[in-house]
Amino acid sequence: MAKRIDGVSETVSFSFEGQTLETAKGDSVAAALAVTGHRHLRNSVVSAEPRGIYCMMGTCFDCLVEVNGVPNVQACRTTVQDGMVICRQSYGESGQ
Ligand code: FES
Repeated sequence: MAKRIDGVSETVSFSFEGQTLETAKGDSVAAALAVTGHRHLRNSVVSAEPRGIYCMMGTCFDCLVEVNGVPNVQACRTTVQDGMVICRQSYGESGQ
């Protein structure tokens, strides 16, 4: 699991897969999920294998999640907000 190396002065609450979590204000969604132990963010469209954070700079698109009902949000390029509802992005059995 990722470990925070800086201090936290302000926190925000968000949910992931129905679990209420807390992280530092200003964290990206990807960082918030990493420090709370969540590595499985979506399933591959092709193989349905679990995918997660890889580049952390917006190029690989492995970190796509659903945020407040909006799919295909890059977790590494989105700042977590208080009350944000984040869900693992899944596709149907056919990969669609
Ligand atoms: S981790 Fe690569 S685009 Fe977000």
